[in-house]
Amino acid sequence: MIYEALISTLNPDGSAHFSPMGYRVEGDSTVIAPFVPSTTLDNLRREGAAVLNFSDDVAIIAGCLTGRRDWPTIATQAVPGWRLATTLAHRELSLVRCEADETRPAFFFATEFEQMHAPFKGFNRAQAAVVEAAILLTRLDWLPAEKVAAEIAYLKIAIHKTAGPVESTAWDWITEAIQMHPAHDVSAALSV
Ligand SMILES: Cc1cc2nc3c(=O)[nH]c(=O)nc-3n(C[C@H](O)[C@H](O)[C@H](O)COP(=O)(O)O)c2cc1C
Repeated sequence: MIYEALISTLNPDGSAHFSPMGYRVEGDSTVIAPFVPSTTLDNLRREGAAVLNFSDDVAIIAGCLTGRRDWPTIATQAVPGWRLATTLAHRELSLVRCEADETRPAFFFATEFEQMHAPFKGFNRAQAAVVEAAILLTRLDWLPAEKVAAEIAYLKIAIHKTAGPVESTAWDWITEAIQMHPAHDVSAALSV
């Protein structure tokens, strides 16, 4: 099973780097597999530590993918790093081993510390729609334009029916970024 979270790693200057990323659990290990190249990958290799943020704030996911990376942070307790100030829970990880791969190495981590901060409020369709649209945004270079437009038209229904202000902002950031891509035009999908 793959979960999606916001991973925080430590930049060389000591600041936090947040990226939405999938993770899975294997026995006692948390496994993260960043594609080559990425800042997260560089930071993981250098620091051997990471933080998983379990946040329901999808604006942070949309923001990280659209150049808005400055989110409030709090220092971590057991590994060097930062967690999101608003996260519902977080898990601090130290690297145990890495399975090398030319395109997508897998990093296996031990949990050093885990903490709940706020309760899970339930599923929200608009949040799920933003996550799906965020995935589309990261794949624009190889997805057909018709598929992206059709998926945006479908995901928009959940936004219109169930979004709050945070989800609407996140949706706008993502669809604006898709619209700026030269191979994609979702204006018709958005206007229906
Ligand atoms: C929900 C979601 C899950 C993602 N999962 C992964 C992943 O498992 N591995 C990966 O390399 N990129 C993943 N991405 C894409 C990265 O977030 C994106 O490419 C990022 O800009 C690259 O990481 P960097 O900021 O560390 O350079 C995911 C994006 C989204 C929206």
